[in-house]
Amino acid sequence: MQLDPFMASLDLKYPIFQGGMAWVADGRLAAAVSNAGGLGIIGAGHASGEIVQSEIETAKSLTDRPFGVNVMLLSPHVQDVVDVILSEKDSITVVTTGAGDPSRYLEDFKAADIKVVPVVGSVALAKRMQRVGADAVVAEGMESGGHIGKLTTMALAPQVVDAIDIPVIAAGGIADGRGMAAAFMLGAVGVQMGTRFLVAAESKVHPDYKKAVLKAKDIDTVVTGEFAGHPARVLKNKMAKRFMKIEKAEAAEPEPDFTDVEQLGNGSLRTAVLTGDAENGAFMAGQVAGLVKEAEPAADILADVYQQAISLMDGEKIK
Ligand SMILES: Cc1cc2nc3c(=O)[nH]c(=O)nc-3n(C[C@H](O)[C@H](O)[C@H](O)COP(=O)(O)O)c2cc1C
Repeated sequence: MQLDPFMASLDLKYPIFQGGMAWVADGRLAAAVSNAGGLGIIGAGHASGEIVQSEIETAKSLTDRPFGVNVMLLSPHVQDVVDVILSEKDSITVVTTGAGDPSRYLEDFKAADIKVVPVVGSVALAKRMQRVGADAVVAEGMESGGHIGKLTTMALAPQVVDAIDIPVIAAGGIADGRGMAAAFMLGAVGVQMGTRFLVAAESKVHPDYKKAVLKAKDIDTVVTGEFAGHPARVLKNKMAKRFMKIEKAEAAEPEPDFTDVEQLGNGSLRTAVLTGDAENGAFMAGQVAGLVKEAEPAADILADVYQQAISLMDGEKIK
């Protein structure tokens, strides 16, 4: 299959982005994905500029292939991270952005010749991103792991494709070639996957968190933070249940104040990734966790997903 010109311009073998997951997607995972022909993306999350700089160094030491950085716009360190990226402009091919509108940073990235691919959860944001000069967008549905919007990938992606002229990459609920082929049918030029890469051999996620993803069934994720205005999809563990109970009780107050709830969530993904502690860790994962049954090297994940998508588009039947 011929790659869309935008994907081809990134020098990819597979039109697959590895989602820039906070605390999970470090320089090592990103380099493994890029070496295998996908686009590896370092997740800056809420990390300091210094930490992001060191992950960029790691990626540079492990790959000569293009890679990206995801800027989490809710981070208190966002400006430092942007500055680090700009200072590394010769090494960073793509910036993706999460949880908001990156308009104010776009001009600087463009001037540095970095391709900007914001993650969007609505047609309105997609249109705005096109207007301000984004190179492409990731249309991410609420099936996905991590912070989510309101629409499903199946509904969102084609509406975004219809609304804008820049390329659309679909994300959320894609973990195999069936999902990838479906994304192409919806008009996407490629896919971004997060949950499937959580368990990659090169992912630093704690073994107990990986085990929980591999064991998960279709209905094992829940959305926390909905009342507080920062919905995130996680595996239903002790932490998620406690969080939802406290959040629900607060929402029932005459004047809800979610400061304590947010405090409880702070650092909980980091705890999950580093310690695998299900009492205090937010095991972020998407609804496709139920499809993810094997922990493989990133290279096998990429080849497997792409080959299956191609076979299906060539008319091969699933059953
Ligand atoms: C643990 C985890 C952390 C994530 N952190 C971020 C993030 O910091 N920034 C971002 O834009 N997306 C983040 N995401 C979303 C992924 O980049 C990706 O778009 C999403 O996982 C795709 O959906 P899937 O999980 O169904 O594959 C995260 C996802 C997970 C599972």
